[in-house]
Amino acid sequence: MADILIIDDDPDVIRLIEFALKRAGHTVLTASNGESGLSITQRRHPNLVIADVMMPRVNGYEFCRRVRAQEDFADIPILVFSARFQPIDRQTALEAGATDYLPKTVGPSDLVAHVERLLRKPPPAAKVKLGSMIAVFGLRGGVGVTSLAVNLSVAVALSRRQPVALIDMAPLSGHAALMLGLRPTGSLHKALASGKEIKAETLKPHWQTHETGVQVLSSPVTQSPAGDVPPAAVQPLVISLRQTFRLAFLDLAPTLSRTTAAALTAADRVLLLVAPDLASVQSAAVALQVLSNMGIENERIWPVLNTPGGVGGLSSEAVVNALKRPLAATIPYEPGMLAALNARRPLMLSSPKSAAAQSVAQLATQLLS
Ligand SMILES: Nc1ncnc2c1ncn2[C@@H]1O[C@H](COP(=O)(O)OP(=O)(O)O)[C@@H](O)[C@H]1O
Ligand SMILES: [Mg+2]
Repeated sequence: MADILIIDDDPDVIRLIEFALKRAGHTVLTASNGESGLSITQRRHPNLVIADVMMPRVNGYEFCRRVRAQEDFADIPILVFSARFQPIDRQTALEAGATDYLPKTVGPSDLVAHVERLLRKPPPAAKVKLGSMIAVFGLRGGVGVTSLAVNLSVAVALSRRQPVALIDMAPLSGHAALMLGLRPTGSLHKALASGKEIKAETLKPHWQTHETGVQVLSSPVTQSPAGDVPPAAVQPLVISLRQTFRLAFLDLAPTLSRTTAAALTAADRVLLLVAPDLASVQSAAVALQVLSNMGIENERIWPVLNTPGGVGGLSSEAVVNALKRPLAATIPYEPGMLAALNARRPLMLSSPKSAAAQSVAQLATQLLS
């Protein structure tokens, strides 16, 4: 006998599940969107929640994240019950904090059996405080993705001395290690090529440490026999990073490969870079659309205006108007950025007083708060 909350915007689905659960002897609470689901969860402390994904206002994934953000509800079983049944949907649900995932093709009696199994499961003994994943991305190359990922990780390492990681996800010839003055060893690919399961322990020998303490997994500079990072490797990578680091930055390639999509979906924040030119604004607008179609909520996407070119750029107002979204940060043009790259010493160290370095430091503080 348990109190079960069903959240779904389709009254027919609610009726069907409610009937089956009541017949099995359970008490049922219902909500038609994630927002009212949240307030019912807080007021009534149900024993288990069944949540749909596609709902107005707060969707099922966001519901899971917000519930898990509250200590009281760290262990409440949440079963995501969705019409979407691609492997990525299951992965997204689990990443968001769901206990389990079932597609709506499952019938009511199987659903009830599943719910009862979840109710019998003991809650996990020790909770690990998990770190955040920050994806840095731009659909147009050359907008400063790697420069930002590198300088942000240095800023975090310098400001808090907290464990911070930088993962170069470029399939070939990424620039993160280079910009930090490290010899790129293609370590993520080496870890994959070893054929061992990706977890904190197997990644350990592949980290390179920068003088600031930033831990780096670089991209290969020769074609890797293991090929690209497969999309299936992203989830174990993310789990391991969350357990090891306070913040992990993913320097993503400017294409929407399945691997990039998996990383974007798993990230707590997506820093979407846009440069003040029409081509970049178009790419950013398209990226916003695609991210939204992938189920990534607006709050998780932070557009960042970076100015890798000199005069003649669009104003930040023009960029905001075109994207119809506020900017999380604006990084001005900094001539020292090119010199920093060529000296293999990030701007954060070579010109910490520059306006660009200051904006990056401010953004790092926002990400840590
Ligand atoms: N704010 C900036 N001011 C001046 N140059 C910049 C700025 N941001 C990036 N750059 C320069 O732009 C070029 C592309 O940057 P990079 O970080 O490699 O972009 P991406 O990773 O998006 O391809 C580099 O030469 C970098 O030094
Ligand atoms: Mg790059």
